[in-house]
Amino acid sequence: MPLVTSKEMFAKAYKGGYAIGAFNVNNMEQIQGIVQAGKETRSPLILQISMGARKYANIVYLKKLIEAAVIDSQDLPICMHLDHGDSYEICKQCVDDGFTSVMIDASALPFNENIAVSKKVVEYAHARGVVVEAELGTLSGVEEHVVNEYGHYTNPSEVEEFVNKTGVDSLAIAIGTSHGAFKFKGAAELRFDILKEVSEKLPDFPIVLHGASSVPQEFIAEINRYGGNMQGAQGVPEEMLRKAAKMAVCKINIDSDIRLAITASIRKYLAENPSRFDPRDYLKPARQAVADMVKHKILNVLGSNDKI
Ligand code: G3H
Ligand code: 13P
Ligand code: ZN
Repeated sequence: MPLVTSKEMFAKAYKGGYAIGAFNVNNMEQIQGIVQAGKETRSPLILQISMGARKYANIVYLKKLIEAAVIDSQDLPICMHLDHGDSYEICKQCVDDGFTSVMIDASALPFNENIAVSKKVVEYAHARGVVVEAELGTLSGVEEHVVNEYGHYTNPSEVEEFVNKTGVDSLAIAIGTSHGAFKFKGAAELRFDILKEVSEKLPDFPIVLHGASSVPQEFIAEINRYGGNMQGAQGVPEEMLRKAAKMAVCKINIDSDIRLAITASIRKYLAENPSRFDPRDYLKPARQAVADMVKHKILNVLGSNDKI
C-alpha cells in the first residue's frame, strides 16, 4: 500500500487504548530495523524525519529509503511525518515533498502566534490531503522562561480554543517529558492529571507524547562498560508510557532509544572485535538491536501489534 496519513491509525488507536510508535530515522539501517519490527508484529508505523535528519541525510535519500520500505513491507501502513517543523515554509516544503503528515512546532511563540502559524499550515496541508500535528506547552528543560500557573506544562484551559481555531489533527502536550537521554534528576514524574483534563476538553482527539524514550538501562550499562560515559541517564518508565497509551495518547515519539540501541551495539562489537573495520560487520548487529528494541516497544509498551 502507498504511504498513509495517521488519521485512521489514530482513530483506531484511540478506540483501542493503544498508541502508534513514531520513530525518528536518519539512515538505512534505522529504517530497516524499524520496518523489520513492524512487519514481525504487524504494527502500523510512523517514520519521522526531523529538520536535523533532513540536513544530515538530504531528503531525497530519506524519501527514497522510505519508498523502499513501503515496497518491502507490502500491507504495512506507514506514515511519513515531519518532526518539529519550525516554520510554515518547512512544513509547506515537506507537503510538497510527499510527506503524509507534518508537525508545526510553534510552541515557543505566544499563544495567538502559535495559532496563526499552525492554522496556516493546516490550510495548506489539508488542501493536499496531509495531516498536521501542533504543540502547546514546552517540554521540560527548554523554554524555561515561559511562566504561567502550569509552568512549562500545557495549560488545559487553552487546548479547546487552540484546536478549534487551528483545525489541527493531533496535539503534542507537555506533561513532564523531555528530549534526550537525561530526562529526570530524581524519580520520574508525569502530570497525568493534565493529560486527563486535556482529554476531557478534547473528547476523541489524539494526543502526542514527545520525549518518550524509556532509556533502557541495559543500553546505558553496555555503553558505559565499553568506553562510554552516560552516568545518570534516565527515561520515562515503560509503565507510564503504557498508562498514557491507554488514555488519549495515540502517538509516542521515540528517537533516543534508537540512538542508544545502535551506540551500545557498535561499542560492544568494536571492543570485542578490535581488528574489524567493515561497517557492515558492526551495522548489522546495530540494525538488529534497533529491530529488537522496536519490537519490544510495540509488544510491551505501545500495544500496536496486530492492528493493521
Ligand atoms: O525531537 C527531536 C528529535 O529527537 C530529533 O532530533 O534534531 O537531533 O534529529 P534531531
Ligand atoms: P526522545 O528523545 O525521548 O526519544 O524523544 C524523541 C522525540 O520527541 C522526537 O520528536
Ligand atoms: Zn519531539
